[in-house]
Amino acid sequence: MAKLLEAPPRWRTATEYVEATLKAAILEGRLAAGTPLRQEDIARDLQVSRMPVREALRQLEAQALVDAVPHKGAVVTDISAADAADSFAIRRGVEVEALRLSIPGLGEEDFAVAEGLMAEMAAEPEAGQLGLLNRRFHMALYAKAGRPRLLQLVDRELAVFDRYLRFFLAARGRERMAQQDHAEMLEAARRRDTATAVAVLERHIDTAARDIAAFFAGRSDRRPAG
Ligand code: NI
Repeated sequence: MAKLLEAPPRWRTATEYVEATLKAAILEGRLAAGTPLRQEDIARDLQVSRMPVREALRQLEAQALVDAVPHKGAVVTDISAADAADSFAIRRGVEVEALRLSIPGLGEEDFAVAEGLMAEMAAEPEAGQLGLLNRRFHMALYAKAGRPRLLQLVDRELAVFDRYLRFFLAARGRERMAQQDHAEMLEAARRRDTATAVAVLERHIDTAARDIAAFFAGRSDRRPAG
């Protein structure tokens, strides 16, 4: 019995095996940021053909664990605790301001868009899609801010955050997505209760910042396996 429990998990396909192996190594920091992932090396090391390696790298890219760099191929995503903290500081400034300015101008059509995106998020299994939907949900609530350059900044920073969100969801599971905050923010915006909506957004961003900081802190403590 003990032997059975200790047996490595079985993968249904070679792609799943490659994806899980690389994912664990990246999330645990055994493969450092910027490390090139050459298909032929991985195929040889894991004793699989190149096709499942290519497919696994594509899946990892959708989870923001791997970046496709022109002329270089796949490399381990370059993200860090310091860069995440920087991104959260910007989000806290620009998004709070965008939401505050936007709420008085939001109409039923904006609330309907936001509600539709919440429903899509609840049903979406893929981390890559979830990140995109999260970004669109936030932008829907800021749509009437009337400050195009501010919104450009917000959108750009949400794109940076999206990488962290996908990375985090890959590590901790999609149920960690803070849907309750989204619902509360939308309800407050509907009531034109700007103070509450802003407080929920600040909490939403702070919680994500803490979760991601804790993830990086835990990772640096971990000794490389093997
Ligand atoms: Ni969100």
